[in-house]
Amino acid sequence: MRLLPFILTLSCLVLVYSCKKEAPAAVYDIQKTAFSDSAMVVSAHPLATKVGLDVLRQGGNAVDAAIAVQFALAVTYPVAGNIGGGGFMVIRTKAGEVATLDFREKAPLKAYPDMYLDSTGNVIDKLSLRGHLAAGVPGTVDGMIKAYERFGQMADFGQLVEPSVILAKNGFKLTERQSRGLNRAKETFVKYNTSTPAFVKSQEWQPGDLLVQTDLARTMELIRDRGRAGFYEGEVANKIVAEMDAGGGWISHEDLQAYEAQWRDPIRFSYKNHEIISMPPPSSGGVALGQLLKMVEPYPLRDWGFHSKESIHLMIEAERRVYADRARHLGDSDFYPVPIPQLLDSLYLLERMADFRLDTATASNTIQAGSIALLSESEETTHFSVVDKEGNAVSVTTTINGGYGCYTVVSGAGFLLNNEMDDFSLKPGVPNMFGLLGAEANKIEPGKRMLSSMTPTIVTKDKELYLVVGTPGGATIITSVFQTILNTLEFEMTMSEAVAAKRFHHQWLPETVRIEKEAFSASLTAELEALGHELNPRGAIGRVDAIMKMPDGRLEGAADPRGDDHAEGM
Ligand code: DON
Repeated sequence: MRLLPFILTLSCLVLVYSCKKEAPAAVYDIQKTAFSDSAMVVSAHPLATKVGLDVLRQGGNAVDAAIAVQFALAVTYPVAGNIGGGGFMVIRTKAGEVATLDFREKAPLKAYPDMYLDSTGNVIDKLSLRGHLAAGVPGTVDGMIKAYERFGQMADFGQLVEPSVILAKNGFKLTERQSRGLNRAKETFVKYNTSTPAFVKSQEWQPGDLLVQTDLARTMELIRDRGRAGFYEGEVANKIVAEMDAGGGWISHEDLQAYEAQWRDPIRFSYKNHEIISMPPPSSGGVALGQLLKMVEPYPLRDWGFHSKESIHLMIEAERRVYADRARHLGDSDFYPVPIPQLLDSLYLLERMADFRLDTATASNTIQAGSIALLSESEETTHFSVVDKEGNAVSVTTTINGGYGCYTVVSGAGFLLNNEMDDFSLKPGVPNMFGLLGAEANKIEPGKRMLSSMTPTIVTKDKELYLVVGTPGGATIITSVFQTILNTLEFEMTMSEAVAAKRFHHQWLPETVRIEKEAFSASLTAELEALGHELNPRGAIGRVDAIMKMPDGRLEGAADPRGDDHAEGM
């Protein structure tokens, strides 16, 4: 009976959207900016945002809402939302308690360092990217349960999954962007599946078509009713292992039983009168963000201004040094001694910037990772942000790595598996799908978590909640979060302006700086090129979904205009 309100709300919601007669390009009324003096949810899909708000209305807190959004995205945003992947959650309670949850996937126990190399030592094309062998052991379901057990306040975990059961069973309408994505992916789905998934149909998908996921609904019911055991044991576990057997993958019952999400010690550092709280390894995000902000803190960014030659140059040069460190020093700290305090040490960072010159770019081949005395010898992800009426804040970035992960849907269970194994360093000197390099710290080992760039972050100002921020984008995640934070802290933008502002990205190697088309004027481009930067325009960088607590105490939710992302308050 407790589930009745959810069933009714969701059924109405699906009905309202199903009955609405709208032009295909506007299947939903998508809201990019929202204001509220109470609570806010911003996510990649309007239905998932609304599921989060419903949970808040039912008396759930921000963690409950985030859990429900995670499951709802697994239904309504299959390109990245997931139960077959993993992610990271950063929590700050109204009382100032901080917690970071790692529900990143793990390498199967059968994995070994050279598993993607042929007999001559070359990386086998696509083996870490497509199909069964690309998948790490999924962490999302255990992560959501751990988050609920520690912070949830709804009476029953199942209440948080129920909306997703309904969305999967009744179906939901595809946006224009989603129908295009599924049509483009059709052949790949056919190639990497042992049975036909719900995403494949004979005709082309059209905007507004209903995507019904019956198998996924059954899986969600089992999670709703049995919790962890509904996924890592019994029917679903059997289906995962059968899928692996049919397609040559390695995830076993032992892997599924052994998987545990972990609470980690947050990365915390200050930037002027702000405190930044972000993810530690196995994400590189928090450490890299800390290095970037600390490196630029001594410079007069505010005076130089947003997208001034000097600001951009400084930020690129900091990025060059930070990504060199990432390639060498970052990996799963359960397996490798990541020197976190040294990498964030102010003197070390000053030294890293000692050869920075305002009038010239540093060639990447002259930059190496910093030497750390203590040492003996990783586009489709999704981010969502939630703040509840009490002021509890949750920042979650979650992924199956590439769009639609490895494209393999577990037969009969209806969910996509990740291709997160590609985030490992497959071979020293060989870049992954994001062009990122790695080494010993991020080599494949059984049960190890692959290095991530995901950077869910919470910022406080004078000890009060200020920002909840994060984004997808592979290697560009760290630099997009870095820029969004500076856009608010230094360049005094509103949350929506900060999210919409054009972005650029540099990652040490390759040498080039990627810029969003029309980000820089012709004259600014010429000035940066004169300093020695090689600029390379590309499409959208990232999809930042963020919330700001404004000086008057109200919340501003900002959904990135680059996607179907939707901000809504209550
Ligand atoms: O964990 C990581 O860093 C990557 N697997 C994230 C992938 C991603 O953001 C793809 N999106 N655009």
